[in-house]
Amino acid sequence: MTDRTTPPPELAVRDVTVRFAGLTALDAVSFTVAPGSVHAVIGPNGAGKSTCFNVLSGLCRPASGTVRLGGTDLTRLAPHRIARLGVARTFQNIVTTEGTVADNLMLGRHALTRAGFAASALHLPRAVREQRAHRERAREIAELCGLGDLFDTPVAVLSYGDRKRVEFARALCLEPRVLLLDEPVAGMNGAERVRTAEVVRDVRERLGLSVVLVEHDMGLVMRLADEVTVLDFGRAIAHGTPEEVRRDPEVLRAYLGTDDTGEDAA
Ligand SMILES: Nc1ncnc2c1ncn2[C@@H]1O[C@H](COP(=O)(O)OP(=O)(O)O)[C@@H](O)[C@H]1O
Ligand SMILES: [Mg+2]
Repeated sequence: MTDRTTPPPELAVRDVTVRFAGLTALDAVSFTVAPGSVHAVIGPNGAGKSTCFNVLSGLCRPASGTVRLGGTDLTRLAPHRIARLGVARTFQNIVTTEGTVADNLMLGRHALTRAGFAASALHLPRAVREQRAHRERAREIAELCGLGDLFDTPVAVLSYGDRKRVEFARALCLEPRVLLLDEPVAGMNGAERVRTAEVVRDVRERLGLSVVLVEHDMGLVMRLADEVTVLDFGRAIAHGTPEEVRRDPEVLRAYLGTDDTGEDAA
């Protein structure tokens, strides 16, 4: 495993505002994802979490504000450029039903393939070597994600939890420095959730990534996150450790009808 040694750059979100036809989905939101940390973004439905992810990954351009990765301004870059600069994301909905696990991970590697289509198609030696190296790396990533034994298995026959992890592994195949996870355990059963939490923790440690996590499962957030940003009606109402935010009066108020940020709060 080619483990990372240099820490990823800091991801700094500053005063980001997004408006949709009169509705302010994000209102001057700022937070900082510390190098190598797991940073959770939580909040009630409609708080602006998905919009925030869309800004980070370039799918949504803010009216104002900036997103910087170390010294690089990502704010108005196209999604593929942001991905190449080291910010990869997973999507909440799985669409992957075709090919084997290996095929899907190689799609993730494709963006990094230098030899290009023509050389690969002609089986030129350099292209063959490069493909082999990419396949080896894809296999390592599969193993890291608990998919090693399933590498040559068609994704169509995998369990829901395993398919979610294929999606996760495919994002890792881009060799990101910052990984954006959109509800990585949504729809999973308890055992799959625990397994996925372990995988996220392992990956963060082994690859030295930063992880930004949007998640409804408060148990997972409490277990995994180093820091939490709480959004409510587009505003960042609290920042802190999981323990700090779960005691914050503003946060308790935002999660209306609950006196504690328990399992069902989000
Ligand atoms: N493309 C869009 N057009 C109009 N309104 C949107 C769009 N996307 C999100 N919104 C609105 O912005 C607010 C924040 O949405 P969203 O970011 O999806 O919240 P969350 O992910 O926290 O549930 C909501 O009021 C939502 O209806
Ligand atoms: Mg959402």
